[in-house]
Amino acid sequence: MKRLSIIGIGAGDPDHLTFQAAKAIAAADVFLLVDKGEAKQDLARLRHDLITAHGRPPYRIVEATDPERDRTAAAYTAAVEDWRSRRAHIYESFVTGELDDGQTGALLVWGDPGIYDSTLAALDEVDAEFEYEVIPGISSVSALTARHRVGLTRVGRPVHLTTGRRLAAEGATADDVLVMLDAHCSFAGAGDDFHIYWGAYLGTPDEILISGPVREVADEIRAVRAEARARKGWIMDTYLLRREPPAS
Ligand SMILES: C[S@@+](CC[C@H](N)C(=O)[O-])C[C@H]1O[C@@H](n2cnc3c(N)ncnc32)[C@H](O)[C@@H]1O
Repeated sequence: MKRLSIIGIGAGDPDHLTFQAAKAIAAADVFLLVDKGEAKQDLARLRHDLITAHGRPPYRIVEATDPERDRTAAAYTAAVEDWRSRRAHIYESFVTGELDDGQTGALLVWGDPGIYDSTLAALDEVDAEFEYEVIPGISSVSALTARHRVGLTRVGRPVHLTTGRRLAAEGATADDVLVMLDAHCSFAGAGDDFHIYWGAYLGTPDEILISGPVREVADEIRAVRAEARARKGWIMDTYLLRREPPAS
């Protein structure tokens, strides 16, 4: 049987890698690295560094190019589904063309594979015989709250995990909202009683942290974010919105 390890590698700091993930890297025969384009070279470099540090030769690295996603598409869900099917195709070629029976292939997934990542859903579409396991990773969610030294949850209370797109469309629908994938600083519409804990490039040497009442720090975050994005060519940021005091 062919095997795949879907390995969460943490959110940017090489030290986020767990012992379980390091062992899974050491056990892999072939790695599939999917190139996400020039802007994400830093992310590709971390994956290469982790393989060099923890891989056990002889191993092979196979590179593939990420299918372009139509980011202008009005039908967002359809565009993501189309992209995922093309991603599934890459995984299928990897399993059928690059792995022999008894070998283990590895996919290194940013953060935790279970949080806003399409790898597992794409694997469901792969038409090939293989077994796979999922190794959890330190998510940008954990990295954010740890760096701000706050809990993700308040005592006995829920947290709403969502995207910037949904926050912009629905507003803050809970007292504690964790937002990812926000290209448009949608926190500005959250309301005056929210505090924000914002972090960009968490776990990397470029990490930026800003916190405070949204009404006081929104402009600063917008300016810092735009400057960093222009300088590096890409940005990944996430934030926790917390209503103080809670309304419900
Ligand atoms: C496609 S999702 C992947 C999330 C990932 N699976 C995780 O567990 O963190 C990408 C989003 O995660 C967040 N993110 C990932 N890494 C980050 C980092 N180092 N700093 C800040 N945000 C990050 C951003 O909101 C980004 O838009």
